[in-house]
This record gives sequence, C-alpha cells and structure tokens, in this order.
Amino acid sequence: SPVENGKQDNDGVLAPLREAAHILRTTSSPVAFPTETVYGLGADATRSDAVRGIYAAKGRPSDNPLIVHISDLTMLRRLLMPGRRQPDLDQPPHLDRDGDDNDSLFHQDDPIPSIYHPLISRFWPGPLTILLPLPSPSPLAPEVTATQPTFGARLPASALARTLISLTGSPLAAPSANASTRPSPTAARHVRDDLDGRGVALVLDGGVCSVGVESTVVDGLCSPPAVLRPGGVGIDQLRECKGWEKVVKAYKDKGEESKPRAPGMKYKHYSPRARVVLLEKAVADKTKGVVEEDLRGVGGEQGLTVGVVRTGGWGVAGGLRCAGMKEVAGGGGEGEEMGFVVMEGVLVRGDEEIGRVLDVDLGGDVGGVAHGLFAVLRELDRLGTDVIFVEGVGDGDDIGAAVMNRLRKAASEIRA
Ligand code: TXA
Ligand code: MG
Repeated sequence: SPVENGKQDNDGVLAPLREAAHILRTTSSPVAFPTETVYGLGADATRSDAVRGIYAAKGRPSDNPLIVHISDLTMLRRLLMPGRRQPDLDQPPHLDRDGDDNDSLFHQDDPIPSIYHPLISRFWPGPLTILLPLPSPSPLAPEVTATQPTFGARLPASALARTLISLTGSPLAAPSANASTRPSPTAARHVRDDLDGRGVALVLDGGVCSVGVESTVVDGLCSPPAVLRPGGVGIDQLRECKGWEKVVKAYKDKGEESKPRAPGMKYKHYSPRARVVLLEKAVADKTKGVVEEDLRGVGGEQGLTVGVVRTGGWGVAGGLRCAGMKEVAGGGGEGEEMGFVVMEGVLVRGDEEIGRVLDVDLGGDVGGVAHGLFAVLRELDRLGTDVIFVEGVGDGDDIGAAVMNRLRKAASEIRA
C-alpha cells in the first residue's frame, strides 16, 4: 500500500542515520556528519572514551575545546540542569510573557541565560555557538571542555545533523572534520581525503555545506558580550539583538598581538599545502602588477603551477594577465559541484612557457566567497598548485570578517 511504501522510503532515508546513531551510542569511534557550516566529526559528548576518539582521529591538541551540538532546546536545558527532572521543561514553554519575540521559546526560570534568548530566537538553528557555564556536576566528558569553565553549544540548521543527534539521544561533541591544520571540510570527500584510515567509523554524505565557514562563537557571560570567532552569523547581525548592541571582537586575526581567548585561535589553521599569498582588498584593487613580480621571484622552474583566486576586484585582466597568463583554456574541474570553475591557462614569461595558471573566480558576493573558500584551497592543492594568490574581500562586520580571518590564518604571506 502507499502507506507502507511511504514508511519504507522513510526507513530508507533514515537507515544510514540509524546506523550512525547506533555506532555513536555503542562504540568509541567518531562519525563524520554534515552541518550547514562545515562537516563535523562527532562523538557522544557525555562519554570520555568516545570524545578521545575525536582528538585521536584529528591529531588535535587536547587543550582546544569542542563544540557541543544539540538537537533542540530541551536537550540543552537537560545539560544545564543535570540530575533534575524538570517535567515543565518538556512542555511547550509559555511562561516568559514579557511581550517580546522570545515569548514562545523560553521559560520564566529558563536555565538558558537570558542574554542568549534574542540570539537563539533569531539565529538558531544556525551557525552560532554560545558559551554557557559548565554545570556542576557536569554531564559532559571533561575532554569536551578541556580546562574551560564553560562549554560551547550549537543547534545546527542541518536537518540531517539534528536528526542524527536526536536519534543518538545524546549531545554530540564535534569539531570540524578535517585533519588538524587543514582547511575545514565542506564536502564528504574532503573528510575522506583527510581522515581515511584514522579510525572514523562512518562519513555521512549530505552534499556540499551551504555556509562554508564555521559558526560564529560568542561569549555572552562577560560584559560587554564578545565574539570569540567570526563565522556564519555576522557581527552586524548580532548587534541588532537586544543586549548585544555593544558586542566587542575578542578575536585577533593573524599578525595582531594578544593572548587568544578561544583556545583554538593560537594554532596553525586552514592551510593548504601550497604557499598562500593573501592580497588584502586595498592592495588587490590597486596593484595589478604585483603577481608578476612575485613570479619573477619564484623564477623559471618548469612545471610551476600558480593558483589565482579572485573575489570580485580583480578582473581577468588584473588577476590573470598580470600573472603572465597568455590564454584561458579548458573548463570545470571537480570544483564545479562546489559552485566554482577552475580555468586553466598557460603561464608565460616573455615568449617562454614556464608553467600553468589555475584561475578561480568566486564572485563578488561575500556569502559566495565563504561558500567556496575552503573547497577552492583544497581543489588547488589537489591539482598540484605551488603558490596561490588570493584576492581578499572587504573586512566588514558581515561574513566577510570570517572569510578574512580564515584567509589570514591560511596565508604564509599577507600584503596589506
Ligand atoms: O561550525 C562549526 O562551529 C563547526 C561545526 C562542525 O559545527 N565546528 C567547529 O568546531 O568549527 P572546531 O572545534 O573546529 O572549533 C571550535 C571553536 C574553537 O575555536 C574553540 O577554541 C572554540 O570553538 N571553543 C569551543 N568551546 C569553547 C569554550 N568553552 N571557550 C572558548 N572557546 C571555545
Ligand atoms: Mg576547526
């Protein structure tokens, strides 16, 4: 009957998720899963052996805490009030009637601090991570938080991620599913490229991540509230929320001096194998000949492969001809599914062919640049690129701040 067929289809879709949830409940091997930001490498956040499996697979330093992913607010409230059965928390909340937009989501005595209510109403599910006080006793494995008195929580927009968490019945600790120091994975293939043979039980394939950079990490427990990592939610958007008008940036981009507050910020990050030269937007706009000069420095090796990543300021003339490129030929490589095309041309100096140029235009929209950024760095690596020149984007308070933050970390050289 159609009803039975419908049930079978539903089971068919859910089967890999049920298998993944079973692995997460019963073993200590992590499972990779898609989110709207990047792929995560998940483990039951309440079990130490499981969480240790994440650090082992990634080669991640153990003082860098993990984000706890939840499937709904009830799961978060249970984390914040361990041991206390709070039947009213499972009822549709209706008690916080102070006349604002949060009324339907929060309780009068909600364990979720009220500073976060406007953010949760507006950005969850979505690319935002909030810091919360670690309850005592803590239901989370100590490996999740490293030595922090807080934990980061995120409700992902990806329905696949939320279904996995809910089937597991436990919050999932999950860092990005790349090998430590590599660009974050925005497709299942990226995860396999990095982590094959490293003890990951399963990679769930949910296609390409829509946002493409990680979540914004905020701390609302301090005053004024702070952004610890720029990400998918813009600082300009945070500022529109009640209590967040004076939010400060507590992260430092590479080159700026300060003790990092988010422990993860001090490590080498997001790096392809190729040398990355970042030209900040101001430079990229003005200096058309700069790449040609660079190539003179690299000098005459046969088979030199140069990547040029454009983000709207460089036209083909500015970005490519200055690289000594004679012609554009060929078409899309594997990048095409990611929403960009790698164009290949010949690299010439004078009349001499000295290698090839791989040209990618990510377009002028910062959201599109964020979406394709990590995938481009990985694709150019795969194609054997020696040096990648990247044109920066405007360093605004939108997702462009996340793009520039990641690019500055990936770059071995910055021209500002
Ligand atoms: O979008 C994302 O956030 C992705 C997906 C998988 O959800 N996850 C992710 O996790 O990017 P990861 O581990 O690569 O980055 C987590 C960041 C690090 O910078 C870490 O230091 C910070 O969040 N963080 C986590 N818990 C923290 C805490 N208690 N205090 C300060 N920073 C914390
Ligand atoms: Mg990461």
